[in-house]
This record gives sequence, structure tokens and C-alpha cells, in this order.
Amino acid sequence: MSKRRLLSGMQPTGLLHLGNLEGALSNWVKLQDDYEAYFFIADWHSLTTLYDSPDLIAQYAYQVAIDFLAAGLDPDQCAIFVQSAVKEHAELHLLLSMVTPVSWLERVPTYKEKQAALKAAGSSYGLLGYPVLQAADILAYKADVVPVGRDQLPHLELAREIGRRFNYLFGDIFPDCKALMTQFPQIPGMDGRKMSKSHSNAIYIADSPEQTQQKIRLMFTDPNKLHRHDKGHKEGCAVYEMLNIFGRADLHEDCEAGRAGCLETKDRLADLINERLAPIRDRRRELLAKPSVVEDILADGAHKARIAAQQTLAEVREAMGVR
Ligand code: TRP
Repeated sequence: MSKRRLLSGMQPTGLLHLGNLEGALSNWVKLQDDYEAYFFIADWHSLTTLYDSPDLIAQYAYQVAIDFLAAGLDPDQCAIFVQSAVKEHAELHLLLSMVTPVSWLERVPTYKEKQAALKAAGSSYGLLGYPVLQAADILAYKADVVPVGRDQLPHLELAREIGRRFNYLFGDIFPDCKALMTQFPQIPGMDGRKMSKSHSNAIYIADSPEQTQQKIRLMFTDPNKLHRHDKGHKEGCAVYEMLNIFGRADLHEDCEAGRAGCLETKDRLADLINERLAPIRDRRRELLAKPSVVEDILADGAHKARIAAQQTLAEVREAMGVR
């Protein structure tokens, strides 16, 4: 029996951090064996906000590809590619845009937020169409399953509605896709807020062990613990939260008993994270030294993706009666 199709993507707006790894990538690595899987780098999506720095997007796209591979995505198991290498996404985006009511797009919460952030001159037609492009990404592969975080659910719902509307108008082409929610607690950044590149509070896969230790030493802890022998509390301590998420709350016990200072506990956390990231960082370094290997993997991934997307596009053109 053929495997069900799974697809997901990430925008190349920066290097990947521990939150991306634990929240999404590690999950993708587990899923890649059970599905016919497509993982891509959504560089066109990044143009909706970073349209004035396409060169930066290209650099990040390459770095994100390396992060994907270092984290364990296996190019023999899945297709790894850059969105703009598979032009079928753009064609399907155009065709779907014709059947998508503007009112559906104006309702999307992320559109309103991004529009406000970009101000009048920055808000484009492309930004409004962001979810249509995302629908094209998904529908081009007739994906059954799309692993995403909670923030992407409105986009996924819209993709489903666009697919249904297309089916209603032109006949059954697209299956209903399902969101596969990642059940993983949010990783806190140094300041205790959600780890995010936009909060400048992230520990990156590409950081060195020393950088990691320095960042963890800056983490917020129990403000009432002033001395080593004060009994520390779990509440409001980002170091505890992180240790707990990684299943090592025991490393915080000495702090709670007044036997360890914050710095000691922080260094234990740094060691734990550095140990976990060591094999990923080793692979990252190896791949960075072999750009042609990475380029070949991306070309091969785009080739595999194109074959699947071309098949869908042929059906779509036929159903619509367009060339
Ligand atoms: N919008 C997604 C994000 O910002 C990235 C993305 C683009 C995506 N196309 C997709 C995710 C298709 C899943 C499926 O995270």
C-alpha cells in the first residue's frame, strides 16, 4: 500500500533554534519514515515581509537546509527542497487566487498583525495572498497531513476551504488535509518568553557550546534567590522550566535545597543542551564544509517534488480547462 502524503515548511527568516528543533524538526524526523514526506523552505513566503532583502532570504534558505539535514531529515526518506525551485507552487497559487474571496483573506489574524507591523507602504498584494500560496504548497502535493504549530491553524483551515471551493467548482481533485499538531511544551528563551528569533532570546543550533553557555547564564531565574544557600523556587525560573522540559528537573533539586547557586544550575543546563546538540552541530559543521553535497540534495529534492506537483497541476489544468 502506498504511504500517505505529508508536507510541511518553514520560512527562511533566520537560523533555526532550539524551539524550532524541539517544536517541529524533531517531530518531522520521526514522521519521515511513516509518510511520503515533503519538507521545504518557504522562501517566497519570506518575500512577503523581507521583500527588500532577497539576498538575505537566499542565505538563510541555505542555512535552514543545513539545519534540516543536521537535525536528521534524511534525503533518502523524504524530499527536501526550496519552494522557489518548484515553480508549480506559483502556478497553482495563481489559479487558486481566482477562486479565493478577498474577504476570506482579510479575516486571517496573521494578516492583520503583519499589516499593522509593516505599515501602509509595506503591505502588499502578496502579503494578503500569503495563505493562498500556503494552500498551493499543500494542495500541489495533495498532502493528507500537515504537521504545524498552533499558530498555523487558521492558514490550514483556509487551505482546506480553498481546496473545497475548487472541488465544488471544478470536480474532486484535492483531498481534505489534516493538521498534525505537535504536542510539545513551548521552550522558553533567556527572558522566559517563548523562544523566538524576533525576541532575540534564542539558542541556535549553529551557536557554539561557549555561546550557548553564555546565553544560558543570562537566563531569568527566581528573583528571590540571592545567595547560593537560599532555597530557590521553580515558579518563574526559566532554567527550571527548560530542565523540566528536557526531563531533568532533578538537576534543579540542589538549587531548591540551597545546595547550588544559580550559576551552577545554569551550567548544568548548558552542559545538558550542549550534549544534546553535539551530534547535530557536528553534522552541521560537516555539511557546511561540503556545499556541493547540500546543493545536490536540494536539487534532488526539488526534482522529486516537481514530479508530484506536475502531476497535480496537469489534473488542475484539465479540470479547469486552461492550458
Ligand atoms: N506559514 C508557515 C510558517 O510561517 C510556513 C509555511 C509555508 C507552511 N507554506 C507551508 C507550513 C505549508 C506548512 C505547510 O511557519
